[in-house]
Amino acid sequence: MLSATMHPTPVQRRRLAAAARRVAQAAYAPYSKFRVGAAVLAGSGRIYTGCNVENASYGLSICAERAAVFKAVAAGERTIAALAVRTPTRKPTPPCGACRQVLHEFGPAMTVICACRSRGRIETTLDRLLPAAFGRKSLR
Ligand code: THU
Repeated sequence: MLSATMHPTPVQRRRLAAAARRVAQAAYAPYSKFRVGAAVLAGSGRIYTGCNVENASYGLSICAERAAVFKAVAAGERTIAALAVRTPTRKPTPPCGACRQVLHEFGPAMTVICACRSRGRIETTLDRLLPAAFGRKSLR
């Protein structure tokens, strides 16, 4: 079992980034043409992937990161140790604010790897991307 605060190994990081890249090909992005892939390393050690799925109503579109988190949770996972996201950009691009909040629920200190079309990478943690977050502790 992996705790949500554990750092992924270099092999796990590579696998996550490769999975995010692969699943981006499945993105349904006919409006933005911006195909995103995400992969999360869950507490069991398994990897779950997701892509963005857009909608003609635009506002109902879902990001790749949230699709991956929801898949992991539906499989019974409750903690996430790391996320990789792959955007079709020249520079690595971190998750949007809504995704940061959803990711926080399952791994406030998770490792976040941002990959793109170039070799550029951002490797950071969610607590740096979402400081002073609202979370379950805030409800006590
Ligand atoms: N998108 C993601 O899937 N993840 C991000 O981190 C940023 C944006 C999607 C949403 C939409 O389908 C498209 O990219 C353009 O914003």
